[in-house]
Amino acid sequence: PDRQGAAQSSDPRSRSENPNMTVSIEQIGEVAVVTVDNPPVNALSQAVRQGLLDAVEALDADPFVKAVVLTCAGRTFIAGADVGEFGKPPTPPHLPDLVARIERAKKPWVAAIHGSALGGGFEVALGCRFRVATASASVGLPEVRLGLVPGAGGTVRLPRLAGVETAVDMVTAGAPIGARTACEAGLVDTVIEDDLVAGAVTFARTVLDRPLPDALRDRSVAASSAGFWDAAAGSVAARAKREEAPLRALACVRRAAEADFETAIAFERETFLALRGSAQAAALRHVFFAERAATRPPELAGVIPRTIGSAAVIGGGTMGAGIAAALRDAGLPVVLVERDDGAVERGLANLRAIFDGAAKRGRMSADAAAERMAGVIGTTDYAALADIDLVVEAVFEDLDVKREVFRRLAAACRAEAVLATNTSYLDPERIAEGISRPDRFLGLHFFSPAQVMKLLEIVPTKATSPDVIAAGFALARILNKIPVRAGICDGFIGNRILKVTRVQAERLLLSGATPAAVDAAMRAFGLPMGPFEAQDLGGLDIAAFQRKAARARGEKSFAPIADRLCAARRFGQKSGGGWYDYEPGDRTPRPSDVVAAIIAEEAKSWLRRDWHDDSIVDCILWPMVNEGARILADGTALRVSDIDLVKIHGYGFPRWRGGPMHYAQAYGLDKVVDALDALASEGLADPPCDLLIAAARHGGFADPSR
Ligand code: NAI
Repeated sequence: PDRQGAAQSSDPRSRSENPNMTVSIEQIGEVAVVTVDNPPVNALSQAVRQGLLDAVEALDADPFVKAVVLTCAGRTFIAGADVGEFGKPPTPPHLPDLVARIERAKKPWVAAIHGSALGGGFEVALGCRFRVATASASVGLPEVRLGLVPGAGGTVRLPRLAGVETAVDMVTAGAPIGARTACEAGLVDTVIEDDLVAGAVTFARTVLDRPLPDALRDRSVAASSAGFWDAAAGSVAARAKREEAPLRALACVRRAAEADFETAIAFERETFLALRGSAQAAALRHVFFAERAATRPPELAGVIPRTIGSAAVIGGGTMGAGIAAALRDAGLPVVLVERDDGAVERGLANLRAIFDGAAKRGRMSADAAAERMAGVIGTTDYAALADIDLVVEAVFEDLDVKREVFRRLAAACRAEAVLATNTSYLDPERIAEGISRPDRFLGLHFFSPAQVMKLLEIVPTKATSPDVIAAGFALARILNKIPVRAGICDGFIGNRILKVTRVQAERLLLSGATPAAVDAAMRAFGLPMGPFEAQDLGGLDIAAFQRKAARARGEKSFAPIADRLCAARRFGQKSGGGWYDYEPGDRTPRPSDVVAAIIAEEAKSWLRRDWHDDSIVDCILWPMVNEGARILADGTALRVSDIDLVKIHGYGFPRWRGGPMHYAQAYGLDKVVDALDALASEGLADPPCDLLIAAARHGGFADPSR
């Protein structure tokens, strides 16, 4: 039950302390209820901070008030800082002072939490003497996700309340926890099942009869076990890789455990201020805003999406099974259509393997896995699709096969059903040719593994109606994915840039680098895998097939070494060798003499250069940025930040680098243009495109989302 009823409670003696009512006070007997009302998420704006500070002063001075309940109007407790104030100089009153003032209040404050108490919101709650919460509430300190540490005592008060282990987990990973877990961990005093404010007022009355616990500032941190900090440093470093904030957050908790309160607070503040100006924090802020912009495209404002309450997937292979799993994870019933009974069985087995794997890794219970499968119907019969809201086609990448599928779908499905293709490289306009009601058709391009990767490219045709495009975005929300609208071109946004990456990777080999050196450089930059390891994992045959198709269309396609590898049937891990050799049953890539010999032959007419990590990264990254600029120039992407999201959520580009376009802007586009000119003069890249040159001249890409 979410909170309600402050206004209806008995004995109201309403005394607004704040003319704009951002923070109001009402008295229920000897308990004052302070309500923050700053829609949509009660962010800690300057007005909220001032209103709360005024409230503490007023209530301390009021002899009738014995205890205070702090609650929020609307859908959530204070969900964090005011994003509008991000990156700007802070204005008083400052949050740490407010939290300290609440903590020193003469009357006990009880935070009554519903929705989420996150970041500064949770720090305010930690300033209160007690915390109560609805069962559906969650609390957390997600600052590391923005490249920061908590800045208002979170790392210092949390270990005093819940011990170092809980504090380290919460602060270094940034994941919120639910109210019941929080209650078990001592973060929340009680979970309130009924009306939150009424329950909190009752709770406040009961605590008045008991001696008050110490404020957190006056408590000490329970001693940790021997070796705790070393173990924590090891696991946090392994998880964070090159991200700074998690280790800095760990250092703050450690200082909180080892130093006195004021010293630890000062250390946390210093860390917070140092990180706030860091490149990583700027990159992570950029991604945060990019995600917000992507999920609420202004061009669809006011469009009501078609309803999606049920789904079907055509094709139960790698992608179809993953997409079906994602749909089931979101609770949608799924019909899985395959071409014959044997393929239905294989498709269902693929899907079962996904859920069983998740259960084995502890990501879901065995019951949940069974429940997921129970919501799937496998069939070859299109009649099962008559009432379905959304169909995603994931059959072979073959125009004729896909056209035939859509011809049948158009006849079998309702006129309002959304019909989507997951094609990677085919032209959706051509797939949809000739179907009835083409307004219901669009591309929904998932990334492998589809139940994991967050990116969803949404690719409308000229005929797609706005409510169908909006349904694509609504689907992304249901599936907890990041939607990016892409125009039609070869590879849309993501794979179009991927092709450039691959060309650059081969150019590097032809001019003297080795696959292992290129992969190591890209990993050192922060990618989970280098381009050659990634191709060996995914298989070289798919791209070879694309190149063949492109050449058949009369287009050029540069991959002299990959072509030779495919001719030698070196398709990657699955064929025992690709860019690397593999021992049977072992995925460790080993440098290959065969590949080295092929490279040497192909490189005969190329000049050799000495490559090092930085120059390798430049040779791959700046051409990606150049392609991104072309994608922007021809309208394939609507926003430059969308290109960053595609690389982050579809290809594992490090979030803390902000995506390639942000990274290039932060580095300096003029320097990127110079670097591309230099590479182009050696035949190692295309020259910078006009839009990139113009953006360099104007100091950045124009971004309508800002
Ligand atoms: P796959 O070969 O693993 O699966 C294709 C499935 O479609 C097979 O199970 C096959 O039996 C079934 N199928 C073929 N014709 C059919 C028909 N007429 N009716 C019903 N089922 C039929 O292929 P994969 O990798 O799943 O790719 C499927 C689509 O997804 C392709 O268009 C591909 O380009 C695209 N895609 C693939 C990605 C990947 O990483 N593999 C990533 C994103 C998109």
